[in-house]
Amino acid sequence: MSEKKQQVSRRQFLNYTLTGVGGFMAASMLAPMVRFAIDPVLKASTSGEMQPVVDVSEITTDPQRFEWTVKQVDAWYTSDVTHSAWVYKNEKDEIIPLSPICKHLGCTVNWAGNESYPDQFFCPCHDGRYFKDGKNVPDTPPNAPLDLYEFEVKDGTLYLGKPVPREGV
Ligand code: FES
Repeated sequence: MSEKKQQVSRRQFLNYTLTGVGGFMAASMLAPMVRFAIDPVLKASTSGEMQPVVDVSEITTDPQRFEWTVKQVDAWYTSDVTHSAWVYKNEKDEIIPLSPICKHLGCTVNWAGNESYPDQFFCPCHDGRYFKDGKNVPDTPPNAPLDLYEFEVKDGTLYLGKPVPREGV
């Protein structure tokens, strides 16, 4: 029984070695560049975190508009972005933090912004209206309630997170 010995020629050995070493060197050079290129995308943005907005003692039964600013990282671009919310306490003393962004086409709604509807949110763009709890008034342009912010109260301060869409009218 004869066994044929597998031999690697000098040419093949050089090919394998040079390909391996070349590949390793290319990977060593490219890895830091790739990491540098996508680094901002990997960093967490602060815009999704809970932000301190107002002392709870300042919240009344009438909706008030509060603003806060966050650093927003958009890839390589960092900017200050101002957010706002309409906040009030309902009859059960629960905090209701509503997004001011109209669910029709994104204008900003105002509380009691129209003399004819003094206890409703009013959107001046197309006469959209919402009840105090943020639910849209039927037969007006918006077709969904105002978003509700995620929130928590810590040490007497109201923190707001992301606005969350609600099901409804
Ligand atoms: S954007 Fe508010 S009613 Fe159209």
